[in-house]
Amino acid sequence: MVFTCKHRDTTVDQLSNDSPISVHNKEKELLVLVWVWPFSEHFPLNTCQSVYGISGCKLTADRNLYNKADAVVMHHIDIMYDKRLLPQDPRPHYQRWIWFNMEPPLIAKNLHFLDNMFNMTMTFRQDSDVYRPYGRIEALKQPQNFTIPAKSKLVAWVVSQWYPGARRNEYYEELDKYIPIDVYGKNHMTLSWDDFCKTISQYKFYLAFENSIHKDYITEKFWHNAFESWAVPVVLGTSRKNYERFIPGDAFIHVDDFPSAKGLADYLLQLDNDDERYKKYFNWRSLYRVRRETGWDNHYCKACRGLRQAPDYQFIPSVEKWFLKGNNV
Ligand SMILES: *[C@@H]1O[C@H](CO)[C@@H](O)[C@H](O)[C@H]1NC(C)=O
Ligand SMILES: *[C@@H]1O[C@H](CO)[C@@H](O)[C@H](O)[C@H]1NC(C)=O
Repeated sequence: MVFTCKHRDTTVDQLSNDSPISVHNKEKELLVLVWVWPFSEHFPLNTCQSVYGISGCKLTADRNLYNKADAVVMHHIDIMYDKRLLPQDPRPHYQRWIWFNMEPPLIAKNLHFLDNMFNMTMTFRQDSDVYRPYGRIEALKQPQNFTIPAKSKLVAWVVSQWYPGARRNEYYEELDKYIPIDVYGKNHMTLSWDDFCKTISQYKFYLAFENSIHKDYITEKFWHNAFESWAVPVVLGTSRKNYERFIPGDAFIHVDDFPSAKGLADYLLQLDNDDERYKKYFNWRSLYRVRRETGWDNHYCKACRGLRQAPDYQFIPSVEKWFLKGNNV
């Protein structure tokens, strides 16, 4: 396989190996209400069957159908500043409320609003009722040959938000003393989406630094920015053990593998001078490929599929307690 940069819109997960649940003829179609457009972004509501192979699901954004909906999906970021943004009408006895959130507690505020209201969770946490990772790797049917893109640069980082107090800021500043880092993003070098992969693929390493340390929180910084651009991810985030539940251990470098930023910098400089050793970080690519989980419609269709798999009756006394306990990584 020769490396080529994909346009980001082609990464929609269409060939999911999660087997679609075929619905028995007599089983009624489920109606899922999209309570708020996530981040005000509209998306097509008719793709569950045609794109994701999930039958028996109808999505709607029409709140007039609230009383008919089998489930209501609430995207946390869009309801978190006011409790009154949640449905106020009594719910039909069979209706389930699904909490949808892809952000860590640093960003997802007011979790106590959710007490005694929700029936299911849909998040990046693997122990959610509907698990929505940002990406995953998929085993290939047979090993493939591949070509590593030409590398002329060393370390890249793309950052748009500087969260005060985030561990990554401090770590970056320390690392920058020992190894040159090209920083892109707001207040730094500009990088357009169209050039993203072409530019980043020239780097040997990419700093996939998460804004938070949270169980299973491995975002597009890892899957898209590093993996899809074929730059070796240097990760700062949850523990190495947690990463290795999803990703081969020899596919990334973890900052915790080193006692200090200087130790990490020395190692990266060593790899820069040792092609054979550097290339070992790509060995996994003969056996796996990267699949990203993108598209809002994808998430909402999976919510609908999850409804069929979840128990008919269930409630979550404290979403907050469940979500925050996840820091035990
Ligand atoms: C991969 O490369 C090896 C060595 O060049 C070659 O023998 C093999 O046929 C190639 N496999 C595929 C699937 O192209
Ligand atoms: C959903 O959760 C609510 C609030 O805890 C509960 O009253 C309701 O019975 C649950 N419904 C189902 C179908 O699980």
